[in-house]
Amino acid sequence: MGRVRRLPTDLINQIAAGEVVERPASVVKELAENSVDAGATRVTVRLVRGGCANITVIDDGCGMSREDALTCLERHATSKLADAEGLFHILTKGFRGEAIPAIASVSRFCLVTSEPDTLAGTKLSIEGGGEPVVEDAPAVGGTRIDVDDLFFNVPARRKFLKREATELLHCEDAVTRLALAHPEVGFTLEHEGKQIWASPPSASEPMQRAAAVLGSEAAPHLLSIAERRLGLTVTGFIAAPEFTLSSARGLMTFVNHRYVRDRGLTSAIQRAYQDSLPPGRQPVALVFIELDPRAVDVNVHPQKLEVRFSDPRSVQEAVGAAVSVGLKAAPWRQGDSRGPETPQVQAQYAQAIERFLARAQPAPAFLEPATPLSLDQSLGRMSFGTARPTLDTAPPRGYFGALRFLSVLARRFWLTESPAGSLVIVDPRAVEERVIWSALATRFQKGELATAGRTLFSARLDLPPTERTRVLEAAPELLEVGVEVEDFGTGSISLLRVPAELERVEPAAWLVETAAAADASARIAVMARRAALAAEIMVTHDQARARLEALDEVAAQVHAHAARVIVRDLPVLDLEG
Ligand SMILES: Nc1ncnc2c1ncn2[C@@H]1O[C@H](COP(=O)(O)OP(=O)(O)O)[C@@H](O)[C@H]1O
Ligand SMILES: [Mg+2]
Repeated sequence: MGRVRRLPTDLINQIAAGEVVERPASVVKELAENSVDAGATRVTVRLVRGGCANITVIDDGCGMSREDALTCLERHATSKLADAEGLFHILTKGFRGEAIPAIASVSRFCLVTSEPDTLAGTKLSIEGGGEPVVEDAPAVGGTRIDVDDLFFNVPARRKFLKREATELLHCEDAVTRLALAHPEVGFTLEHEGKQIWASPPSASEPMQRAAAVLGSEAAPHLLSIAERRLGLTVTGFIAAPEFTLSSARGLMTFVNHRYVRDRGLTSAIQRAYQDSLPPGRQPVALVFIELDPRAVDVNVHPQKLEVRFSDPRSVQEAVGAAVSVGLKAAPWRQGDSRGPETPQVQAQYAQAIERFLARAQPAPAFLEPATPLSLDQSLGRMSFGTARPTLDTAPPRGYFGALRFLSVLARRFWLTESPAGSLVIVDPRAVEERVIWSALATRFQKGELATAGRTLFSARLDLPPTERTRVLEAAPELLEVGVEVEDFGTGSISLLRVPAELERVEPAAWLVETAAAADASARIAVMARRAALAAEIMVTHDQARARLEALDEVAAQVHAHAARVIVRDLPVLDLEG
């Protein structure tokens, strides 16, 4: 017998799985893509233990007959490609017919499916490849696939799985990328029975889908772009240069409804933003390219994450133009330049003072009371510091809650009126810093920071190698102050838990500095200061009052630690004089 032998089918499938199925997220991607290819209007993805224990994908697509269901288990069996010519017209996500057999060869796999107008469905079960067990099943109006215990028969692969939280982040990426490419399909993602992300079909409002994926932080900064050329359309959503990230995570490109990574496209977008971004920051941009399928080869990467354009230059050029034109036309560019010197701000200031004076007229009456004051009145009487003091000491209790918010000065400070009738200029970031510092310090002292449950779902950070190492080395110290990090692989870090006060703050802004701080109290100070920089300045009267009242609750010693809240206290008589 010759030495060269044909490999057994199961082994061939496992080898294929090595390329296609890297981790739970690859299964989520392949199955959810099949659902979209099957014309589903709703796709539900359920996971247990980050997808390592179970992945279930349910759709309301076209389903399969029993014959087709059995055929799809075979390698290179597909309904999406008929001949070689077809390879140049690919508009479906799949076409190679390898995902299903590959997945079934490395898991406990169960498929239930039925075609629309039939009463009976088919159930096929396979454990680690081999022959399927075929059963009748009720009609399910689509397809449901369960993948249990991924890699149970491939220990080498199982060993490379990261912790569940990290696998979950990858799965979430797989779902949201597909969701961005297909706003017409509704998606739901559940983890251990809890819904963690969902977006209804939003074909008529694709911005909604973008906002659902990018989050409420980014949403208000988004702007649509569009550039049409012969045989090529570029559309998408870009964020104002004021909303940036430390990594290129918010920069995604799609070609003919397929998420792709492409260095040329990414740098075209970065170049368009070049002059508007602070150094080291990355833009947020979702860019969708549609072009003749013959002008792009999608068959160049095992997981189809890369493509090859027949004319990459003109695609990059169109993408760059779309983003540049969008940035130039953006409303944030028009008449909104800031700085204390601009006439707009001066007018704002003058108005605020006018308004203040109008309200403050009765105030001087309180200054010289004839009779002893009640507690309420005495609060009303306090002018905390008069002649432009530097106000570092703790004011009397109730002082901040008694300030009346008037307006915002120079998009930076709050103008308030004290009951004693002085114009008090407050630094809202300092308010926030004290409130946050106090909350963190209190929980730290009680040992609650280190033990708080996971609150965060998805945060990932690309960092330069040295910073990444520093953060990972400080992992035990970070844990003490409620920050849990893990190596995400491929040069990034996943952030599994942060104190609630920092959840909405871009991690790159504080994580590295926190990791480098000398001790726990320095770390808490860094976190409070960094979180405060993200404080809302443009607030409603109610929001301002709530923040100022919170400051009254803060323990007195905090005032010695944190930033200076009161920038100026101008007795109204000064202004009148
Ligand atoms: N959710 C589904 N609904 C209907 N048909 C499906 C579904 N998943 C897979 N199929 C069928 O099984 C075939 C094989 O799927 P797969 O192995 O992923 O290969 P490909 O997607 O490349 O065709 C598909 O071509 C399709 O006909
Ligand atoms: Mg497929």
